[in-house]
Amino acid sequence: MSSSFVLGRPPRILLGVCGGIAAYKALELARLFAKQGAELQTVLTAGAEQFVTPLSFQALTGRAPRGALLDAAHEAAMGHIELARWPDAVVIAPATAHCLAQMAAGLAGDLLTTLLLATDRPVWVAPAMNPHMWTHAATQANAAKLAERGVRFIAPASGLMACGDIGQGRLAEVDLICAQVMASLQPAPAAPSSPMRGLKAVVTAGPTREPIDPVRFITNRSSGKQGFAVAEALAAVGAEVTVIAGPTASRLGSGIRRVDVETAQQMLDASLTAAEDADLLVSAAAVADYRMQTVAAQKMKKSGDELTLHLVKNPDILATLRARYPQLFLVGFAAETERLAEHARSKLTRKGLDLIAANWVGEGKAFDTEDNALSVFWPEGEREIAQAPKAAVARALVALIAERLASRPRPPLPAASPA
Ligand code: CTP
Repeated sequence: MSSSFVLGRPPRILLGVCGGIAAYKALELARLFAKQGAELQTVLTAGAEQFVTPLSFQALTGRAPRGALLDAAHEAAMGHIELARWPDAVVIAPATAHCLAQMAAGLAGDLLTTLLLATDRPVWVAPAMNPHMWTHAATQANAAKLAERGVRFIAPASGLMACGDIGQGRLAEVDLICAQVMASLQPAPAAPSSPMRGLKAVVTAGPTREPIDPVRFITNRSSGKQGFAVAEALAAVGAEVTVIAGPTASRLGSGIRRVDVETAQQMLDASLTAAEDADLLVSAAAVADYRMQTVAAQKMKKSGDELTLHLVKNPDILATLRARYPQLFLVGFAAETERLAEHARSKLTRKGLDLIAANWVGEGKAFDTEDNALSVFWPEGEREIAQAPKAAVARALVALIAERLASRPRPPLPAASPA
């Protein structure tokens, strides 16, 4: 297996595990890394050992985890400075609020934090904690400081927590953590044979935000997660990806160009520019259909018992792109609460799309959740992508896009012909 690694040997990952309930998921993460052929050394904090046993990690990775900083036997085998130089990447999953604070402050009170100061290798952090702890100004400031220093974050997911709270704080899906880290260590294997290699792709993601007055706006529940996952899946198969993102707290994997926008009009303008030399565009954004006819210059004051807002239609981004770039391979999304196939097929035709991925929304489905399922339609066929984490759904969708791109009548790498 090692011959397929860019490094010429299996990638080495130092997996740091902190003390939180999500520590049990680190066992599955270790198993996934091992399955991908990585060599693993785990480092458990004292807190982590309260949740999971070193023996479990030893069984999964074939190496005894390291724990104490001043352990004579371990230090004799591989000193902590040597250990800091050993990996190709350091991954902390789960990372607690305390760990982030220690990292931000540069503390080195235990083996893990000492290694983090001593290593010059890429550091990935997958935080997991109570939603209030994650959104606390102190934690956010620590995370921002670390991100500025180059630490790569795999943002926590939203949902019901073990503590009963609902919000953002759950450890990201372990298969997403594994995929992102492995893709950074071995970008070459997927690419050479991929039909997507070198193609220029644009992905729109997240909601748009239409201002009402200086303090209010109209938006929707889109989290941008499915769009970001599609962008990451496209990048993983060698495409050159630009994401046009509406306002979202979701984070994108490294190596993907990101253009932030707010309104539908700004998303349209950015899409027209980005699509100029692109081969394909995936429109995963939940674009607001309407905007205020006139945005109030001052904060609107409360007056009568009722308020009517005068809205006007936003431009349709996909339809505009189709008119401007007839050769562009266009993929749309359709979020439906009823008659899914009928509505999706109608949008496929109306907007001149090559493919449309439809999903059910409402009642906790798809928007701002971790899982999704898609029914994908194209003029001559359809395929179901079963319920799975959004990253896995994105990979399946990208595989289908590659298939359709290869089999469409137009040449797969057309010279864009702007009107
Ligand atoms: N879309 C777009 N421009 C808009 C609205 C939507 O490009 N102004 C794109 C979305 O990004 C998505 C597809 O069109 O890929 C379908 O979006 P959806 O909101 O489901 O469809 P609409 O055309 O807005 O139809 P409706 O709201 O009536 O279902």
